[in-house]
Amino acid sequence: MKHLIDPMDLTVEEIDELLDLADDIIENREKYSKKCEGKKLATLFFEPSTRTRLSFEAAMMELGGNVLGFSSSDSSSAAKGESVADTVKVVSCYADIIAMRHPKEGAPCLASMKADAPIINAGDGGHNHPTQTLTDLLTIRREKGRLDNLTIGCCGDLKFGRTVHSLIKAMSRYANIHFIMISPQELEIPDYLVEEVFSDGKLQYEQVRTIDEVIDRLDVLYMTRVQRERFFNEADYIRLKDTYILDTKKLKKAKADLSILHPLPRVNEISVEVDDDPRACYFRQALNGKYVRMALILKLLEEAGK
Ligand code: NCD
Repeated sequence: MKHLIDPMDLTVEEIDELLDLADDIIENREKYSKKCEGKKLATLFFEPSTRTRLSFEAAMMELGGNVLGFSSSDSSSAAKGESVADTVKVVSCYADIIAMRHPKEGAPCLASMKADAPIINAGDGGHNHPTQTLTDLLTIRREKGRLDNLTIGCCGDLKFGRTVHSLIKAMSRYANIHFIMISPQELEIPDYLVEEVFSDGKLQYEQVRTIDEVIDRLDVLYMTRVQRERFFNEADYIRLKDTYILDTKKLKKAKADLSILHPLPRVNEISVEVDDDPRACYFRQALNGKYVRMALILKLLEEAGK
């Protein structure tokens, strides 16, 4: 594991190790507070972010390291026409490890071929978001005590939502996972993903149109935002944006131990009244994101011999 570009870059064993390390960090914060002294993390964000960038930065600070970077392409030399390859070659001279978000699918992969420092994909277009997946796996494991034998509903924008794409890939390797995809027809999971994950028939999924018809069967409900920035026209976004709104009424039929996840930001898809329900895990999930990124930074720096 030199870089983390796709969730499948990690074996199930490596994921277990990272989650174990994150659990240990949560229990023993002091033990890790100087592990990255003298080290620098660069965050290169060519696309908006709150949680991912700030949790990466907070993670490095809690490890005793330093951070540098930019939070929009306008404030970097990308605005002058510099290529991603040149930017990361240069930043490798200044930082020990790089977290990068880019609107173009594949940009972090290209960066990993050019950079000397480990590259972490912090989201590439509608493609992958492996550190959100680590966050989601840590959350599911901490909330439910397991990563197997689960019925998982993925709801919302399954076409453009990179967090769902990465989660489906990663979860497909655990035993007895049943996926229920809840989306309008226009926002179903892309064909390439069906081909990649479900074509060998080992794992099956259902496709439904409403939360109501399946909510009583779910162990995990993974809600997502309709990805406005990836639509070709605003009218389609406006028509689809409020297809699903999870509220306390809808939750009446849900299991008592359902875990409701959302990578955030939320727009309208979870009513704020749900926040007080103990089954709402999304703010705990955001906190877990910091700890699992601490674990990842430690592992990648160790692998790189830094
Ligand atoms: C997600 C993303 O950027 O893909 N946010 C995040 O990283 N927590 C989800 C989203 O933007 O809808």
